[in-house]
Amino acid sequence: MAILRLPGLIDPHVHLRDPGLTHKEDFFTGTSAALAGGYTTIIDMPNNKIPITTKQLLNEKIKIAKEKIVSDVGFYFGSMGDNLDEFELVADKVLGLKIYLNQTTGNFTLDSHKLEQIFKAFPHNLPVLIHAIDESTEQVIQVLHSVKRPVHIVHVSSKFQLGKVIEAKNNNLPITCGVTPHNLFLSEADQQRLGPFGMMKPPLRSQKDVEFLWKNLMAIDCIESDHAPHTTEEKMKSEVNNLSLRAQRSNLNGIATSSASWRIPRNDIPYGVPGLETTLPLLLTAVNEQKLSIEDVIRLCSDGPSSIFGIKQDEQTYIEIDPNLKFEIGNLKFHTKCGWSPFDGMKVKGKVVKTYLRGEKVFEDGQILAKPGSGGIIP
Ligand code: DOR
Ligand code: ZN
Repeated sequence: MAILRLPGLIDPHVHLRDPGLTHKEDFFTGTSAALAGGYTTIIDMPNNKIPITTKQLLNEKIKIAKEKIVSDVGFYFGSMGDNLDEFELVADKVLGLKIYLNQTTGNFTLDSHKLEQIFKAFPHNLPVLIHAIDESTEQVIQVLHSVKRPVHIVHVSSKFQLGKVIEAKNNNLPITCGVTPHNLFLSEADQQRLGPFGMMKPPLRSQKDVEFLWKNLMAIDCIESDHAPHTTEEKMKSEVNNLSLRAQRSNLNGIATSSASWRIPRNDIPYGVPGLETTLPLLLTAVNEQKLSIEDVIRLCSDGPSSIFGIKQDEQTYIEIDPNLKFEIGNLKFHTKCGWSPFDGMKVKGKVVKTYLRGEKVFEDGQILAKPGSGGIIP
């Protein structure tokens, strides 16, 4: 059976939770999940328990990472608009600035009036990454017309939003975008079945949105897993709450309420799903189904992120995949600490068998071979 060699993949959007929330993930388990999923480089988000908005917090995080990582790792800096003085101080240690214009895990939302100031202040050789939805994407593009600097819209999920990005690209604005595997392989039709395990920000979208993303894959610059682990217990807490709510209601009304109670908006559901170990198998399955080509996978998971974030990988950093190996996602022995997947039950074709980092075999047949601390910090 032909084994295929691909460059080591780059995931520019992961939440490794370390430090602060290491019961969900830590630098060792998160980078182990990366190697098992075919990713040799990942870039870690700044929405830690204490958001990474100062040089000191960033240095502390890098120090912790150095001891534990088994893949290469880069970092983003965070901002809520009150730390502009720190930007120059961290410019040589990060691969971009991440800002949130809409609700996410943690209180991290930026007032959009501060956008222009941030666009000016953050070094223009690095991208500003933006968590936005439909309206806020329009605001970003408006500001981008007056302050031209590289901007990357993370996890584009709707037809409207991608349409706006395409329009901005056609107007030659310096904008790129990424899409998540859950917005490509799941839709809001899966929401009820998945309950809290299908809740993330932005949410699962309509089939029409999903189809638009697939149809316009050429306008998308990279695939980003948005690996955002939460424990089963944390996700189930909302289920228990919903169940007790349902029980209360049925006691009151004498009838059982439907599972539509999943849709009761709750503040305590932790949004986010893991993705590092499932993205490539899902994409390889889609290659098998001729929904995209292996060249598209290389563009979206290696060349694209490499050029947006200025990452150069060694020639001897690569993966070997068996494109014909079939398995069920639920049967994977996960390396991520959270241990579950929203893609549970899906049958896929195509698996990573070996991962090499600078010529060293670091993963083989489900086993991590690298020692904690052997990964590199980028840049
Ligand atoms: O669903 C999400 N979870 N979206 C985000 O933007 C953040 C992430 C997290 O950190 O859990
Ligand atoms: Zn994210």
